[in-house]
Amino acid sequence: MAGDISTAVELHDELIISLGRERICYRHPENDGYIIKIEQDKGARRASMNDKELEGYRLLQQEVTDLSFVSRCHGYVDTTRGRGLLCDCIRDHDNAVSRTIWDIIVHEENCDIDAVLTTARKLCDLLMSGRIWLFDLNPKNIALKRLADGGFKAYVIDLKGRSENKELIPVSRYIEYFSLKKLQRRSEQLLARIEDYHQRREELRKLDI
Ligand SMILES: Nc1ncnc2c1ncn2[C@@H]1O[C@H](COP(=O)(O)OP(=O)(O)O)[C@@H](O)[C@H]1O
Ligand SMILES: [Mg+2]
Repeated sequence: MAGDISTAVELHDELIISLGRERICYRHPENDGYIIKIEQDKGARRASMNDKELEGYRLLQQEVTDLSFVSRCHGYVDTTRGRGLLCDCIRDHDNAVSRTIWDIIVHEENCDIDAVLTTARKLCDLLMSGRIWLFDLNPKNIALKRLADGGFKAYVIDLKGRSENKELIPVSRYIEYFSLKKLQRRSEQLLARIEDYHQRREELRKLDI
């Protein structure tokens, strides 16, 4: 029922996982399998980032059968802080909310940088071999689930960039060739950034509030 907030999910500050550039990410208060993304102060003319992400997720669903490397999106929910996008929450083997590559390489003192690089490389290889056109390979948009054996598994947690590249659906070999080149460049850039940010972690930590 429109305007009925009695069914709205109640969000409060203690549930905040992280403030992204565009959205605030909350833990779902009743179900630890989900997070809810709420847009921050969206200007009137700007496209909705949650709409973009949902569209990006739906495009992926049409193109890829195995989506085990992304945080899946489940549509909108009403909350006490406005309409939010419900997505899977990536959690470690001990149920802690998984951290992003950025959080691990910049903020963790004894991070296993080789394991992070190996995991990121594996994700990039999977995207390239599957012709999966996700180009927004930013260390803040990839979460690493910690496994019981000490390794990681990577998940893309921000899919809003995908819908901007709708035209890259591989309708021809020509487009596929250039998309693959672009994905290769973005993958190399991600791996180079991981090494660079890790080396500069002391300096970057001070900038990251
Ligand atoms: N599915 C998820 N599981 C765990 N943490 C998440 C998830 N999605 C987002 N986050 C956290 O919230 C932050 C912001 O989310 P993101 O979707 O990247 O928003 P923005 O559009 O602001 O970039 C991420 O960097 C991460 O710390
Ligand atoms: Mg993001």
